Amino acid sequence: MPYSITTIAVIGSGYMGGGIAQVFARAGFSVLIADQSAEVAAKAHHRLVEEAQQFEDRGLFPDGSAAAITQNLSAAESVEDAAATADLVIEAVFEDVDVKTAVLQQISAAARAETIIGTNTSTMSVNTLKPAVSHPERFMNIHFFNPAPFIPGAELVASDETSDAVVAAVVDVLTRAGKRPAVVGDTPGMVVNRIQYAMLSEAFRVVEEGVASKEAIDTLIRNSLGFRLGLVGPFSIVDQAGVDIYASCYGILEEAFGERMAAPESLLAAVADGSHGTKAGRGLLGSYDEDALSAIREYRDRAYVQMASLQDELGTPPGPSGTTTD
Ligand SMILES: NC(=O)c1ccc[n+]([C@@H]2O[C@H](COP(=O)([O-])OP(=O)(O)OC[C@H]3O[C@@H](n4cnc5c(N)ncnc54)[C@H](O)[C@@H]3O)[C@@H](O)[C@H]2O)c1
Repeated sequence: MPYSITTIAVIGSGYMGGGIAQVFARAGFSVLIADQSAEVAAKAHHRLVEEAQQFEDRGLFPDGSAAAITQNLSAAESVEDAAATADLVIEAVFEDVDVKTAVLQQISAAARAETIIGTNTSTMSVNTLKPAVSHPERFMNIHFFNPAPFIPGAELVASDETSDAVVAAVVDVLTRAGKRPAVVGDTPGMVVNRIQYAMLSEAFRVVEEGVASKEAIDTLIRNSLGFRLGLVGPFSIVDQAGVDIYASCYGILEEAFGERMAAPESLLAAVADGSHGTKAGRGLLGSYDEDALSAIREYRDRAYVQMASLQDELGTPPGPSGTTTD
């Protein structure tokens, strides 16, 4: 079924819900926010409109954003009122399974049968929450990142019953709102947190072993790994550096740290198959011809130079980790 989304309800007008509401209102959608009471929603509405003006005054939102948000955002009397009017409802209440279940039941009872329902949970499985929603083919996880008005990514997780048309409609609406979503499978912690926690565990181990201070790690990651990752994804980096090189580095790390640092099977398979990366004309992400290669190099170099200028312009981040060079 084709979905046409013009009105969006955000249930839970706190930190994330408020930011999500600003994103869609700024993009021209008609947005309703609802919370535990009409008073809480009205207060949040006031805060969000005021904050949008401050964002615009500080140059964080383009001109006209505050006016768009003022025009398109309103506070609903109740969760039911908001859900009944919307083509898409996004639940962003407390991260508590009982609260989310109750609110999702409330939403799905009030919404039209074809209204798409999303949850912004950051830890719960969409399949665990699914029984709370009637017509489960319309339900999925739409995971925004904090702060929602400024982080472009959004992780989308379908349940085993979500329809492809619903996923496509959500990708479309997020893209129209200026986000750059990616669809992933259902896994504990979801994909971004799973990867982030793996990195964080290693960072903690390095500190606990006395190899580096927290400040040194922050400085290094900001200026090397994170510096790259802002513009070039991890698999792309491997293809550019050489898949075979990564395989031999994994060998050294496995010898030192055991199984947890062993080379992933698919990486070894790519090496065995001759997919050694850009230098071989094919790698983990597919094949590369000469034109693609020079475009990649050109993009990468410009990206890194501009990232360095951005760092210079912004200066080191305030707080204890910004200035360390040890
Ligand atoms: N804060 C983050 O960094 C972050 C990032 C991504 C996702 N999330 C997820 O977003 C969701 C909201 O988190 P938050 O940080 O915005 O929390 P928050 O505490 O700022 O906001 C939660 C809002 O839900 C409202 N609420 C609670 N029960 C309700 C009910 N029964 N009916 C209607 N409204 C109700 C509260 O009044 C509050 O306004 C959580 O699922 C969280 O895991 C948070």
